[in-house]
Amino acid sequence: MKHVVMGVTGSIAAYKACDIVSGLRKKGVDVHVILTKAGAEIITPLALETMSSNPVITDMFNRENPWEVEHISLAKLADLFLIAPATANFMGKMASGIADDMLTTTVMATKAPVLIAPAMNSNMYLNPVVQANMDALKKRGCEFIDPAVGHLACGDEGVGKLADVQDIIDAVLNRLNVRRDMEGMKVLVTAGPTREAIDPVRYITNHSSGKMGYAIAEAAAERGAEVTLISGPVSLKTPEGVKRIDIVSSGELCDTVVEQFEHCDALIMAAAPADFTPVTTASEKIKKQGTGMTLELTSTRDILKTVAPNKGSRKVMGFAAETQNLQQNALKKLSSKNLDFIAANDVTAEGAGFGVDTNIITLYGADGSEEHSGKLSKRDAADWLLDRLMK
Ligand code: CTP
Repeated sequence: MKHVVMGVTGSIAAYKACDIVSGLRKKGVDVHVILTKAGAEIITPLALETMSSNPVITDMFNRENPWEVEHISLAKLADLFLIAPATANFMGKMASGIADDMLTTTVMATKAPVLIAPAMNSNMYLNPVVQANMDALKKRGCEFIDPAVGHLACGDEGVGKLADVQDIIDAVLNRLNVRRDMEGMKVLVTAGPTREAIDPVRYITNHSSGKMGYAIAEAAAERGAEVTLISGPVSLKTPEGVKRIDIVSSGELCDTVVEQFEHCDALIMAAAPADFTPVTTASEKIKKQGTGMTLELTSTRDILKTVAPNKGSRKVMGFAAETQNLQQNALKKLSSKNLDFIAANDVTAEGAGFGVDTNIITLYGADGSEEHSGKLSKRDAADWLLDRLMK
């Protein structure tokens, strides 16, 4: 999820800040508002708090979280800093290095790109000192969303009207590189291991951490898809906006995928279901007898082979975690499981194994394509895979 810190200053256009916050939230962006004292004369913190679902910061010396240096933590959190509306006074302070309130200190401490949408009377806007301050800020890397020409609050006609709310939202989304190419799509993702019970205290499982599947679910939701995540037992947080269904065994995973597959446009099978399960599960804890025990296992259903033959126009992507003959094994699974893509990785390679935060993928397509991702964070690997699924 992308984080925007938004400064709202004391221009009359501050009343439009709620619409900007709401528009960004609808696109899955997390917004934290810093409201100046003058801004708070025009719009209330409560309105902005309700729209952003985050506390609005107005006070430099808030004692609620005294251990946290708030302007620094917000400055670090920001993927992008937006000032909308920005007054002549704010830009003057920023250009001169004055940091005397929460907004000016936080913007000074951030390394994130800064986008500024000025709004003021046209004579003020055209005043050489304001223009010089804006030039100075541009030279230091700030970007501007220019004000529009129109009827101003003071009754004048001219330049100075806050840019169109939608243009500001689009500028932020563009700068954040937020893609919404999966809007309207229903995506089913599976993640994590399964557990096959031997008795009430023991089970068979594998090393899957679920991280890759969770990263895919998060990325697809951010790109606008309606995501259902069927998850084995893992200790990961459900990504925002994702519907999660928990399962335990490979059989349960199979039943749930069959049920959910009906309603999806794409299935991404990142889970590592157990291939074998005990023939019987003892109802009581098995006691030690002699020097060992024999466990009889039976094969579980192959989930992809169960659903993919009837996929129709649905896109299906499988995974192949291999320790040897990567290409040969992956291509065999691609065709035998009737997949559109198989994402293969060598789990013995450094940066591609279980539980790590990176992955190195070779993606084979049913059309004969082969692409290499290089070493990516699992989150970037998720977008890399979705880019190809969406092609
Ligand atoms: N898979 C599945 N049903 C299973 C086992 C695996 O649908 N019972 C899926 C996995 O989610 C993955 C793909 O099939 O997307 C390949 O899984 P993998 O474990 O690599 O292959 P297997 O088919 O189990 O073959 P093998 O264990 O022989 O490598």
